Amino acid sequence: MFTARSAFSTIGRRAFSVSAHQSSKVTILGAAGGIGQPLSLLLKLNPRVTDLALYDIRGGPGVAADVSHVNTKSKVTGYDPAPEKLKAALEGAEIVLIPAGVPRKPGMSRDDLFKTNASIVRDLAKAAADYAPNAKLLIISNPVNSTVPITAEVFKAKGVYNPKRLFGVTTLDVVRASKFISEIQGTDPAGEEVTVVGGHSGVTIVPLLSQSNHPSIDGATRDALVKRIQFGGDEVVQAKSSAGSGGSATLSMAFAGSRMADSLLRASHGETGVFEPAFVQSPLYKDYGCEFFSSRIELGPEGVKEIHPVGKVNKYEEGLIAIALNDLAANIKKARHCDTPPI
Ligand code: NAI
Repeated sequence: MFTARSAFSTIGRRAFSVSAHQSSKVTILGAAGGIGQPLSLLLKLNPRVTDLALYDIRGGPGVAADVSHVNTKSKVTGYDPAPEKLKAALEGAEIVLIPAGVPRKPGMSRDDLFKTNASIVRDLAKAAADYAPNAKLLIISNPVNSTVPITAEVFKAKGVYNPKRLFGVTTLDVVRASKFISEIQGTDPAGEEVTVVGGHSGVTIVPLLSQSNHPSIDGATRDALVKRIQFGGDEVVQAKSSAGSGGSATLSMAFAGSRMADSLLRASHGETGVFEPAFVQSPLYKDYGCEFFSSRIELGPEGVKEIHPVGKVNKYEEGLIAIALNDLAANIKKARHCDTPPI
């Protein structure tokens, strides 16, 4: 289990165990934003990353100059916005993270971002399909429930789509679930793992508490916990708005994105038993009717190694999944075809 507390000590220890011949270029598109900057820093601290390419429509080279002074081995390059710079940022990348786009303001749902972010992600996906078709693509930009299917369409149109390599980043949902349940139980979040399935927006986020260490949480406590996990992002949007800074989760999201990238690197460097949640094209389609679905995924050198069944859920969770599927179907349909949920 990768937690905030263990992140740096783990990375530090691993610095001495990562073999020199492995080279892994990681590219961030949107690197100068609220998420992009701390994400750049966390990836600079990761000894598995040998080259860090930072691209943004404004400020990429500045962030790169700053982060490059951190005394770890990796090489950092910043890129100004130009087609040939975007090409150079992407070429040779093993992982491409996309946090480019606008964040939510108070009262906005993630779906409200569709109009602006869909075209940003579509255009960056086109470049990724051209210049890094074999990279693992991690979509952070919201609404993830729609931006991931859009990216899949772009890659299909370019003839380079491999569903094993396209991920909507939902790691923050399990990070929050782990933290929030530990606060209720008075436990160490490092030992708390909560599977979260569905999508990455409000009621499409379905925590499976029955599969956690605390299956007996019930009644009002359970309802409040589930709601907090589903709408935890709103707490951040509201707090930042009151403080006058605006925006949505950036630091916790950077932590979550960095953890997801690290897990993929570990799996591609031969480590087995690496699991993360992600919103992907899923064989769980046959159970849930939506072609894209988030669940706990086993990672391997190619990206997705195996998507396991969701497992046993209780009646309450069945109800949550049914509600989630309605929204999820609409979100996916906005981007591409999705069957009517069977539940
Ligand atoms: P931000 O506005 O601080 O940063 C976005 C960055 O993207 C800016 O630096 C901007 O210049 C850049 N950008 C815009 N268009 C671009 C383009 N065409 N090419 C390259 N860069 C471009 O926003 P923030 O807070 O970093 O959030 C970014 C996205 O991440 C938002 O859509 C937000 O909703 C999403 N998000 C996702 C989460 C998740 O769990 N998946 C959690 C939190 C936020």
